[in-house]
Amino acid sequence: HAALLLLFILSCSRVAYSGGGRSRFTSIISFGDSYADTGNLVRWADPVLPGPNPFNNLPYGETFFGYPTGRATDGRLVLDFIAQALGLPLVPPYLAKGSNFSAGVNFAVAGAPALNLTYLQGQNLTVEPPINRSLHDQLDWFQKLKPSLCKGKGADFFGSSLFVMGEFGGNDYNFLMSCNRTVEQARVYAPQIVDSISRGVEILIQHGAK
Ligand SMILES: *[C@@H]1O[C@H](CO)[C@@H](O)[C@H](O)[C@H]1NC(C)=O
Ligand SMILES: *[C@@H]1O[C@H](CO)[C@@H](O)[C@H](O)[C@H]1NC(C)=O
Ligand SMILES: *[C@@H]1O[C@H](CO)[C@@H](O)[C@H](O)[C@H]1NC(C)=O
Ligand SMILES: *[C@@H]1O[C@H](CO)[C@@H](O)[C@H](O)[C@H]1NC(C)=O
Ligand SMILES: *[C@@H]1O[C@H](CO)[C@@H](O)[C@H](O)[C@H]1NC(C)=O
Repeated sequence: HAALLLLFILSCSRVAYSGGGRSRFTSIISFGDSYADTGNLVRWADPVLPGPNPFNNLPYGETFFGYPTGRATDGRLVLDFIAQALGLPLVPPYLAKGSNFSAGVNFAVAGAPALNLTYLQGQNLTVEPPINRSLHDQLDWFQKLKPSLCKGKGADFFGSSLFVMGEFGGNDYNFLMSCNRTVEQARVYAPQIVDSISRGVEILIQHGAK
């Protein structure tokens, strides 16, 4: 996992700085789970999320922001370091209505799986909280926002955006294991989980991601 992330970051910075020290990326568009959520889950409306969300309380946020931001960490996420390295603003969560998304938007939701809620529940899995936050739900948000994202932007806005897809998959296995499936039973789902992530990447490419 760590090695993959490192490779990813190295390849980003190589591309990012190939234009004489200036980033070629004008925005960041992010999808994922708690590894990337900058505040979507904590903004999800009640009554789906009753009671205080731990990410909305200290010690979350205490070592960098000084207050909880909805990130599942006391400091910054990898996504935050990427944004800072590219000289872009920290990527605002989609559910923070009224945010300026012209330099980036983050659709990641903590706990998001690759497979959708209806499907997982149909497999007799308990998904807590039971909300539509999967990769493909995040892609629906993206498609809904797309007209306003692209408004007044050049034709190649997405071509100059850094798309960050993931992490995805971890929560699918979490839901399986917390319902007491064996590793062998969980392994059966791997091809579908991988396929769902691949299809998500392909959809973004069809929308102009490079
Ligand atoms: C939104 O942010 C962009 C760049 O980050 C800036 O150029 C623009 O003026 C901002 N728009 C508003 C309405 O604040
Ligand atoms: C949920 O996933 C299943 C299996 O991949 C798929 O057949 C179905 O169309 C999806 N439903 C929604 C609402 O996306
Ligand atoms: C889910 O549980 C129901 C009731 O026990 C059962 O009939 C069904 O076959 C189960 N579905 C799967 C995919 O395991
Ligand atoms: C999730 O999405 C499915 C398909 O659109 C819908 O039938 C279901 O009611 C939604 N569940 C929740 C909890 O919103
Ligand atoms: C899983 O197993 C544990 C320990 O046997 C049990 O307490 C728990 O209720 C089980 N969970 C489910 C979803 O079956």
